[in-house]
Amino acid sequence: MKKDKPMSESNFKFMVNHFKNRDSKYPPSKKIEKTSIKNGSIVLDYGCGPGSYTIAAAEIVGNTGKVYAADIHPLAIKEVEKSAKEKGLKNIETILTDCDTNLEDNCIDNILLLDIYHDLSDPLSILKELHRVLKKDGFLSVDDHHFNEDEIKSKITNSKFFEFFERKKELLNFTKV
Ligand SMILES: C[S@@+](CC[C@H](N)C(=O)[O-])C[C@H]1O[C@@H](n2cnc3c(N)ncnc32)[C@H](O)[C@@H]1O
Repeated sequence: MKKDKPMSESNFKFMVNHFKNRDSKYPPSKKIEKTSIKNGSIVLDYGCGPGSYTIAAAEIVGNTGKVYAADIHPLAIKEVEKSAKEKGLKNIETILTDCDTNLEDNCIDNILLLDIYHDLSDPLSILKELHRVLKKDGFLSVDDHHFNEDEIKSKITNSKFFEFFERKKELLNFTKV
């Protein structure tokens, strides 16, 4: 497998500021509304960054649900844990990884893969891992503004791990093959 590397600390800090601006214009909760995430859902936010969507999802899944926030960058993990603590959210678990999540097979209701696909040097290995952890009737929600809709659809479905289910504005939802 080709290995990704965490970005520099200064690039990560720049990204965090950029996302603050993004999130004030497009609230993360609006994107989560386009997924199947609901009270009690078990979610994996793969490539969570500073955790905008992790936090929005955790507020919806409540005490009976859980959000796993996975990222290759130690600063992402730190940011997510800090925000969860500040907001009193106890349903978030962080995972520092470049691919393997160590989660059980078929345990996730909805995976978020948001603004990360373009970053991956070996997307197939990541998709294989996401396929392994997703429940049979679960959803993979993908958004990456670096590609158009058809490009994302073909990249995800060519893996043979997922098939296209529906588009909700910028968000594409896939089911497990
Ligand atoms: C552009 S950010 C998007 C963050 C978040 N999904 C959002 O939209 O707010 C991409 C994130 O993916 C992470 N990343 C890149 N390659 C990764 C890999 N192989 N495994 C896990 N995380 C990765 C980066 O560290 C970064 O935090």
